[in-house]
Amino acid sequence: MGDLPALVREARRAASRSGFRHSCDDRVGELLAVLAASVPTDGRVLELGTGVGVGTAWIVHGLAGRPDVEVVTVEVDPQLSAAAGRQPWPAGVRFLVGDAVELLPSLGRFALIFADAQGGKWERLDLTVDALGGGGFLLVDDMTPTAEWDEEQATKQSEVRAALHRHSALVTCETDWASGLVLCVRRR
Ligand SMILES: C[S@@+](CC[C@H](N)C(=O)[O-])C[C@H]1O[C@@H](n2cnc3c(N)ncnc32)[C@H](O)[C@@H]1O
Repeated sequence: MGDLPALVREARRAASRSGFRHSCDDRVGELLAVLAASVPTDGRVLELGTGVGVGTAWIVHGLAGRPDVEVVTVEVDPQLSAAAGRQPWPAGVRFLVGDAVELLPSLGRFALIFADAQGGKWERLDLTVDALGGGGFLLVDDMTPTAEWDEEQATKQSEVRAALHRHSALVTCETDWASGLVLCVRRR
């Protein structure tokens, strides 16, 4: 991996200042940037769980200043969202504060979704899949068990994995690369 993009470095510094330890792995970030670069003209990107903006920064890096793509990122914790929002984001990045489960039905359709919050992943994954347009990518990370996981987390992640693999509208692929990923595309 080369030097980190400036916005990612900024977001990592903000995460460090906030004591936030749940930002995405940089390898996941690189993949997010690749997927963001594939978003079709006038497509939209959704991140569930802004944290302090590291994942958002990777998405923005992949978009490389494209003015046609809207990025929506949802965070339930207003302080985290505010810390993320302090960075110099380009126009077209929207920070929403609220529970992903409550907001999802009103957000519309997306060409790329990074489901990185309990809401929309552990709870009501169906709403997240419904928000994915045909041909759109859904990325779920943190699928490889770690020593820090408690029983609830292990159970929830295993339910998420099973639900994604059996969903008839999705084509899925799983890898233990980085934090463990399930990458899905919605059939057209
Ligand atoms: C793994 S962190 C997100 C990291 C971020 N995507 C990144 O790549 O840097 C998960 C975040 O989801 C937020 N969260 C948890 N439940 C949520 C919900 N129901 N709706 C929205 N955000 C939620 C948490 O507050 C936390 O900041």
